[in-house]
Amino acid sequence: TWDSVPLAPPDSIFKLTAAYKEDTFPQKINLGVGAYRDDDNKPWVLPVVKKVTDMLLHDPALEHEYLPITGLPEFTAAAARLMFGADSPALAEGRVTSVQTISGTGANHLGALFLSKFYGWYEGKEVYLSDPTWVNHFAIFRNVGVEPRTYPYYDANTIGLAFSAFIETLQTAPPRSVFLLHACAHNPTGVDPTREQWSQIADVILAKGHYTFFDCAYQGFASGDLEGDAWAVREFVRRNVPMLVCQSFAKNAGLYGERVGALHVVAPSASAATRVKTQLSVLQRSEISNPPAHGARLMALILNNPELFEEWKRDIRTMAGRIIAMRQELHGLLTDKYKTPGNWDHIVNQIGMFSFTGIRAEQSQALTEKAHIYLTTNGRISMAGLNSHNIEYFAESLDKVVRG
Ligand code: LMR
Repeated sequence: TWDSVPLAPPDSIFKLTAAYKEDTFPQKINLGVGAYRDDDNKPWVLPVVKKVTDMLLHDPALEHEYLPITGLPEFTAAAARLMFGADSPALAEGRVTSVQTISGTGANHLGALFLSKFYGWYEGKEVYLSDPTWVNHFAIFRNVGVEPRTYPYYDANTIGLAFSAFIETLQTAPPRSVFLLHACAHNPTGVDPTREQWSQIADVILAKGHYTFFDCAYQGFASGDLEGDAWAVREFVRRNVPMLVCQSFAKNAGLYGERVGALHVVAPSASAATRVKTQLSVLQRSEISNPPAHGARLMALILNNPELFEEWKRDIRTMAGRIIAMRQELHGLLTDKYKTPGNWDHIVNQIGMFSFTGIRAEQSQALTEKAHIYLTTNGRISMAGLNSHNIEYFAESLDKVVRG
């Protein structure tokens, strides 16, 4: 029966984790998937998450009933405050619809599905994705009949933002186009617009009547500061840019497996927000019925308790701080110790969990084949995979492939 089903390739990111696990080479390094590791290369359960897990476990009132279709209200409300600010006028005016989703991927999917069905498309259903972007964005939009296009984002010559080409695409795209923007800590490049550039992006988006589809998977990872990392989102809301936001707690709370996230649609009025919510609820019901409870309960405890919230912020700074330290160390090794040809300042200038090294596909393949270092072929490395024990070996190996 299934003779006509073609064999699909493995996922380009998760196949690296599988290959790394199978590799028996003692000095192997996994710089593939964006998942935080401590200095001993171990997954890190945030101390605050340990604490709230314990609280839940000992809660005599804990039951296992269905959550509402749109999620745990004390989670979605707190998640919205985290994204938009507790004093956000849009929240006070009831213009934000928030739905709990299967982490950031689920938020992207539900947002894409909603737009596919209800957005006032000007021409065909198309979304503009940054070139490059998280590879899964392409499949998520195609799955719901929205064709991905790309806008220039990364300039290989400067290893920075291709700002004028990006602006030009915003200007020349048909009116009311949908643009997916990474709210902070761009995946995979680690290159974000400056605040001044964000303002200019907002100018063109408003002038052209475009729609902003924000993906925010790394709040807290760009600067170690949850508020600062939400700046672009909040500025766009302040300027009344039509938008939605996909929010994930996988990275900033280390809740990868719990699949806890939210989709927030900012509507022009409270009544529009209510109508949107009813439709999101219908879509969600047919797809997952009700979102999973555990991760949402954990995050609700953290977000709604000032002390636990402060603890969480400390844990985020621990993760962001270790990543920044690794950036500095790697930069020092390449420039001072190995005197690796080329300029490596982007390693310290880029932000978030990833660094886009700027090496070519064949060089990244050589790192994997010769040095047992796993990374995506676009040259992205997850900084969290580096630690004080393996960074020398990585720098030495990178130096070798750069020299050819
Ligand atoms: C990544 O880009 O490595 C992460 O977002 C994990 C994933 O789901 O791909």
